Amino acid sequence: MASHRLGVPAPIISDRQFSKPLMCGPGPNDLYPAVAAAYAAPVISPACAEYYKVIEDIRAGIQYAFQTRSNLVLAVSGSGHAGMETVICNLLAPGELLLVPSRGLWDERAKDMARRYGIRVETIKTSEPFTTFSLEELESALERHRPAGLFITHGDSSTGTLQTLKGLGDLCHKYDTLLLVDIVASLGAEPVLMDEWGVDGAYASCQKALSGPAGVAPVAFSARADAYYASWQKALSGPAGVAPVAFSARAERSYSGCRRRVCVVPEGAEQAGRAFSARAEAKIFSRSHDVPFYFDITFLARQWKCYDDTFFYHHTLSSPLLFALRACLSQLAQESLPRAWARHAAVTAHFHARLRAHGFRFLVRRPEDRMNAITTVLPGMECNTFVAELRSKAWSTEVTKDRGEWKRKTCCADPHNAGGAGRRREKDSTGFILIIIHGYRHNIMITPGLGPTAGVAVRVGLMGANASAAVADRVADAMADVAGLRNATE
Ligand code: GLV
Repeated sequence: MASHRLGVPAPIISDRQFSKPLMCGPGPNDLYPAVAAAYAAPVISPACAEYYKVIEDIRAGIQYAFQTRSNLVLAVSGSGHAGMETVICNLLAPGELLLVPSRGLWDERAKDMARRYGIRVETIKTSEPFTTFSLEELESALERHRPAGLFITHGDSSTGTLQTLKGLGDLCHKYDTLLLVDIVASLGAEPVLMDEWGVDGAYASCQKALSGPAGVAPVAFSARADAYYASWQKALSGPAGVAPVAFSARAERSYSGCRRRVCVVPEGAEQAGRAFSARAEAKIFSRSHDVPFYFDITFLARQWKCYDDTFFYHHTLSSPLLFALRACLSQLAQESLPRAWARHAAVTAHFHARLRAHGFRFLVRRPEDRMNAITTVLPGMECNTFVAELRSKAWSTEVTKDRGEWKRKTCCADPHNAGGAGRRREKDSTGFILIIIHGYRHNIMITPGLGPTAGVAVRVGLMGANASAAVADRVADAMADVAGLRNATE
């Protein structure tokens, strides 16, 4: 063995155990048992037949979950933010205008991301905080700005509001605008009807109502075979307005065999047959701007075999995450969308009734603006006092292995609240701090507000595996206990 002088000594990385809380924040969420089992399956290679079967199942599951017949559906490696970035950078070119009606943190993120790509951004605000937009408000902004794209968050986990999307696609298309939607917090908990609503690009994540791990983001773009076909044919013959280098590069280098491909009418897209659906796919395959390699949907579509039996290597996908996502989608398909939506609605109604009985109030004033699955709660006392109260009572048991022996110690779950000389009370830039309610008595995790709700409300998620009346009761009672509120139902 060659001898090398190591300047950095080996760290002591000890085994640790911790008492996992019941995960009732806005995500991540507890996994369904079948998802946890799938996540632990042996790692497979992206070159084996089983791998392609998994991605085929995932694509079918995403089409069902998003209710789209588009073929341009796949999952991006990364959290929901990777989905956001994929949708934005593939659908808008530098210099184009993105309209972002803004009501929470995710809209701010979309604006930030768009600006980094040189995309111009305009925004409008809701008439009152913690409400949603009317179609009239959105139409007047579309008319005023004539943007190339409109980005909107469906279920906004930072405020707990749910934006109505029915009719918005038709409005956008009237102004020649693409509709980009964040369905991270709504997918599986609220109706999402991508084709019917005329959505052109949508993305979700795995760790919310799908009850899976973070790290893989389902994405779909609207499709129409004839426009796609036409744009490719135009591209191959060097149309005006399309940078020939970009096209010939893509056509000849990246898309070997594309002449064969463009003659294949994507089956699902043909079935969709809606006027709106031309836009996303046609734009992606006829664009002249470059996008980052990692998010380039024209490559990813080949890796995911969106149109053809392509065997294309783009990057190594995480097989545990793929297995987990497939299990999430299978769980959703077995339960069925209508039943999953009804379960989340019923559990949320029950939870709200329990909170009301305890004397809590809701941040989102109008019930029709509230989302299922994530609730923003006014704690019944000044919010920061409530949060401080929760944190001061937050204890957890830490178990570490020391020289082969497990050692157990009860400690403050929130190191920032530990007190003493080195006491720090910092928040990160988004104000994200975890609250563990009575570590050893309740051991439930909820979170404080985020973005516009920081210091105003706490956020509770009852999603996927945790969308049950029993969990709702447990969380409502624990919150009342910590807040010192009497349980009116007892
Ligand atoms: C994260 O997605 C959050 O809503 O806190």
